[in-house]
Amino acid sequence: MSTSNSGSNEAWGSRIGLILAMAGNAVGLGNFLRFPRQAAANGGGSYMIAYFIALLLLGIPLMWIEWGVGRNGGRYRKGHLPGMFAAIWKHPLAKYCGVVGMVVPLGVMIYYTYIESWTLAFAIFSATKDYWGQTTQEGMIGYLRSFQGLTPEGGTTYHASWTPYAFFTFTLAVNIYILSRGISGGIEKLAKIGMPILFIFAIILAGVVLTLPPQEGIGATPLQGLEFIYKPDLSRLGEPGIWLAAAGQIFFTLSVGMGSLQAYASYLSTKDDIALNGIATASTNETAEVVLGGSIAIPAAVTFFGVAGAMQIAQGGSFDLGFATMPVVFQQIDKTLPIGNLLGVMWFGLLFFAGITSSVAMLTPITAFFREEFGFKRETVAWSLGGLALAIGMMHVTWLGHGFLDEWDYWVGTFGLVLVAVLETVVFIWIFKPDNAWKSIHMGADINIPKIFKFIMTYVTPLYLFIILTWWGKDEAIPILLNQRSAGSSNPVSDIDMPYITISRGILVAFVIVFLFIIRTAWKRNGYDDRKGFVELPTNRAEV
Ligand code: PHE
Repeated sequence: MSTSNSGSNEAWGSRIGLILAMAGNAVGLGNFLRFPRQAAANGGGSYMIAYFIALLLLGIPLMWIEWGVGRNGGRYRKGHLPGMFAAIWKHPLAKYCGVVGMVVPLGVMIYYTYIESWTLAFAIFSATKDYWGQTTQEGMIGYLRSFQGLTPEGGTTYHASWTPYAFFTFTLAVNIYILSRGISGGIEKLAKIGMPILFIFAIILAGVVLTLPPQEGIGATPLQGLEFIYKPDLSRLGEPGIWLAAAGQIFFTLSVGMGSLQAYASYLSTKDDIALNGIATASTNETAEVVLGGSIAIPAAVTFFGVAGAMQIAQGGSFDLGFATMPVVFQQIDKTLPIGNLLGVMWFGLLFFAGITSSVAMLTPITAFFREEFGFKRETVAWSLGGLALAIGMMHVTWLGHGFLDEWDYWVGTFGLVLVAVLETVVFIWIFKPDNAWKSIHMGADINIPKIFKFIMTYVTPLYLFIILTWWGKDEAIPILLNQRSAGSSNPVSDIDMPYITISRGILVAFVIVFLFIIRTAWKRNGYDDRKGFVELPTNRAEV
């Protein structure tokens, strides 16, 4: 069977390919950079309790909800949230609510790819020993700032000023090329290569780090690093900040609240077991995060800087632990075991593969939208989005020091995710009704999800989401808008930075307006009747 529009009949090539791609989507920079830093900055053991509760009550239920929403959308050849929402909620507003599922992944993709490009650069700098000799934390931070174009007046620079632009452009081009090759020809192939490499590098690094001997003058062991994270600690559970940080991390690491898991799931058939695949994806991600992500950066930092030193580093700049401390550690290891630069290549190489298998996922909803609703060719959509991402990415590169990126990381990468999650939960569970949602998730499933999760999805998850959204609104979103503080720190934005922050926000607002308009145009163009919904096709696209 074929349908008239060109974006319809793609599917995953194989089951293992699908699982690797879904895991590739979830396992990302969040697992190896964001998680260790957050765990250390928020007091280790207390944070982990909040983390596991959020995983159980938010992450896993949302994972199933998103696979359900996505596969259901696939029955109407809809790989994007405006269409997925409209397929369930027969109301003119449904499609417009889906706008968040376009702006959030596009926004995150742009700055995420930029950070991903740093990992590629540092993998090369490790191979060539470019940073060799910067053996202190301060020295490495100076090197990192130089690469980022943030060297303070009078400081030493180590890179030509075009370096970060070149790495960003190249990394983006690779992403767009993969996207232009399609679901099975691009994304699935990448996951089949990238995921095994990433796991092997991570296992080797964890092995090396966990067997490090205590260092002279520090006396801490890698096991103390593990203990710091994993030893349950109830002392800080009264601080709301810890709960919010943990929930934010669960969202980010599992890729929920984006639109990308849903897009991936739209290429599945009603015969696929999404109950099992959903939990398998979440488990793979958690293994990569808690077991591997937890066994590299923190134990390494604790061994060389002590527990207090590691906590202090984590509370400093967001990327200092991964990009400054780890290179110092590799150079220290090199003194006794001359493979320091190889370890550096593995660490940054692992981050690069983790990053790219996630960033390619972020543009899939928008690509699906333009193909399905306007009949554009995949290559055309991919390269046009690439052009847009390049133009805006340049601002991120140039204005990093003005808080441009922090602003996006807050509004789309943190707040936006919760917003998407709230909307999809309301649409799928409350409007579609819990019984239908439960049935839809179980279609084609060999396993039965424990009944308690139906209760959790219906009442607990929405309540949890609602609390987070209000708390964040009160504690962060409103103070940031009123400039009582900035997105990246507790200080208000300075007069010098304000114009950049205004542009940063202006672009996001413009995205929302433009996409609302495009959605409206698409619905008119295709003559969709909001009250009737779409025609269900007899087969899911994966069955064609
Ligand atoms: N989960 C990815 C990570 O941990 C980030 C991501 C978010 C990817 C949303 C896709 C969509 O880095």
